[in-house]
Amino acid sequence: MPRELPMLGNTPDASLVDSFGRRITDLRVSLTDRCNFRCVYCLPHEHNDWIERSELLTYEEITRIVEIAVPLGIRKIRLTGGEPLLRRDLPRLVEMLSGVAGGADFALTTNAYFLPDSAAKLAEAGLRRVTVSLDSMKTAKFALLTGRDALARVLDGIEAARAAGLGPIKVNCVVIRGFNEDEVVDFADFARSHDLAVRFIEYMPLDGRPDWDRKQVVSGAEMLATIRERYALEPVERTSRSETASRYRFADGAPGEVGFITTITEPFCDGCSRLRLTADGRLRTCLFSSRSHDLKSLVRGGAPADQIREFLVATVRTKEAAHGINEPGFTPSAETMASIGG
Ligand code: 5AD
Ligand code: SF4
Repeated sequence: MPRELPMLGNTPDASLVDSFGRRITDLRVSLTDRCNFRCVYCLPHEHNDWIERSELLTYEEITRIVEIAVPLGIRKIRLTGGEPLLRRDLPRLVEMLSGVAGGADFALTTNAYFLPDSAAKLAEAGLRRVTVSLDSMKTAKFALLTGRDALARVLDGIEAARAAGLGPIKVNCVVIRGFNEDEVVDFADFARSHDLAVRFIEYMPLDGRPDWDRKQVVSGAEMLATIRERYALEPVERTSRSETASRYRFADGAPGEVGFITTITEPFCDGCSRLRLTADGRLRTCLFSSRSHDLKSLVRGGAPADQIREFLVATVRTKEAAHGINEPGFTPSAETMASIGG
């Protein structure tokens, strides 16, 4: 039987459901493609094709989109980038969005460099949680990986977030073979000693690294086995079908947890609940899409709310079944992670 789809327009049951019946509850908003770091796998040093400032969505435009999206079923809003804290006066946007987020969970993904100064202001403005990207705990390797000698400052940023109540704090660690796979157990130790949820991410093919090679991917299963040689782990029940990480707690009752985001070896596309808004106002239905949908023109052109709502609903209907990385002929998106929004 064909699946019943919600009606378009301003009918009460208009909601974001794709053509496979997946409910879109998670909106990721990229605020800038710029970053003060240059993580080797994300932003190549020679990258110089930045979004013009005038093309970035304004705080008012972002707020309008979120205000229209939330009643369509968005339960989770995540600000990302690039480095979102490069946008001027981010607490102002956070405050505007808290006003329209309803009860939605409200989080930020950051490299933590600016958190020592801004964590308290963000929390006060209504942010709930932060996720910090951190791929090495070794000073020299961190500097090599990010182009900034800033490990100590990032660790301070994590503590500032904790002190401001922006927890539970997640740490994203992209693991690349031959680069940092020797640190997996150190990161598990870090999760225990600092009561953090460390999430190990399989290295994905994005434009930051056109020479991505499957051999550089360390599978979640391999990382799990490595950590299990040191610590007994117990699986944590998934709280929802759309949860991307397979999570484990320490069997000895220590604080913290580890999780594995197995985009490559065990894709979780069939539970996907995400929709992305790029910094220049395009909707992307998948991180690996080769197309995007211009929403900014509508919003900037003063379109009525109904029209924006219909555009959101119609775009979600075009969401692809799966990323297809493991299919022959897959080509990575021509965009960097920083411009798409992680
Ligand atoms: N593979 C896996 N993760 C990536 N990220 C950026 N580029 C890649 C990639 N090629 C991560 C960042 C950040 C999150 C938003 O995405 O480290 O934590
Ligand atoms: Fe910046 Fe994050 Fe990309 Fe690193 S991974 S360059 S911190 S946006």
